[in-house]
Amino acid sequence: MRDAVDPLAILEWYDRNARPMPWRVSPADRRAGVLPDPYRIWMSEVMLQQTTVAAVKEYFLRFTARWPTVTDLAAAKDADVMGEWAGLGYYARARNLLKCARAVADEHDGIFPTTRDGLLELPGIGPYTAAAISSIAYDLPETVLDGNVERVMSRLYDIHTPLPAAKPELMTVAEALTPIARPGDYAQAVMDLGATICTPKNPACGICPWRAPCLARQAGTHLELPKKTPKKPKPVRRGIAYVARRVDGAYLLETRPEKGLLGGMLGWPNSEWIGGDPSQAEPIKAEWKTLNEEARHTFTHFHLRLVVKTALVPMDRASKVGDFVELEDFRPSDLPTVMRKVFDLSTGGSKIISKISARSKPK
Ligand code: ADE
Repeated sequence: MRDAVDPLAILEWYDRNARPMPWRVSPADRRAGVLPDPYRIWMSEVMLQQTTVAAVKEYFLRFTARWPTVTDLAAAKDADVMGEWAGLGYYARARNLLKCARAVADEHDGIFPTTRDGLLELPGIGPYTAAAISSIAYDLPETVLDGNVERVMSRLYDIHTPLPAAKPELMTVAEALTPIARPGDYAQAVMDLGATICTPKNPACGICPWRAPCLARQAGTHLELPKKTPKKPKPVRRGIAYVARRVDGAYLLETRPEKGLLGGMLGWPNSEWIGGDPSQAEPIKAEWKTLNEEARHTFTHFHLRLVVKTALVPMDRASKVGDFVELEDFRPSDLPTVMRKVFDLSTGGSKIISKISARSKPK
């Protein structure tokens, strides 16, 4: 017979080991009656989707310093929010962040709905985020199932169904475990356990508060779990990026269309990104030079290789796309990572650029 899985064991562990995070109310403060700010919890959860806590912290601090309330964020200019998000990736999240802030400000008097169903009606809030905000901010017994929790549950119950098919089964066991007492701390405790103890490699089973009831550890299968359906290899797409600099130092940039990859972000004029060889798409008449290194970047569904062309153009030359951005208004940090790589290459290269290989050199 297995030991029963006790939610209290992990809550006690969390009381001693909760990771400090800028948006988190510590278990001690929570007991003293401090409530989390739903705006901060919402923002952190949107940022944490597909992104590590370490990467999110700085962005979170910058966003909340610049826009301390949801009403402040709702009043922000789109370009300012997209620029602050640059480098965090998955830019649809930033567009939805703004839409959601404006919906809360305009339709809810600047107050986030206080139920999971109410939250689900807001733009960009899906089942995961609604459950996370309800449990963490409002202490409602909703179940949060992210990658960390999936790993913990698959091991605790020795579930071998591969992900993503296993999600409903993992949700069922996770729901059954969610306690009525302190559900917000419990949700954060399971996520912290997955991030620090029940790690993909070298889990620290020796100090795990759920060591005794863990079925995978008993069966010796914990290192194989969770099983995952192999992903298809990502195809390679190629494109050309054009960095035009005017003699006064201004750069030719365009705001990318709202719909599509990097939508709403600032970028260099570019060709289509396609499987074969891209056609030229020079945005302005100039003597274009091709750099001998390409910028490489991996998106969710493909690897991108961009040939970089640069040109110096006279003051009065008109361009077909984009606008020249004066040097004092140009912040490389406003560019999404792939465009930043192109920029770094155009100014003489940097460590993040991979060398063009003979095999991949476009003809
Ligand atoms: N990952 C996503 N949300 C989290 C949270 N609130 N605590 C710890 N890890 C998380």
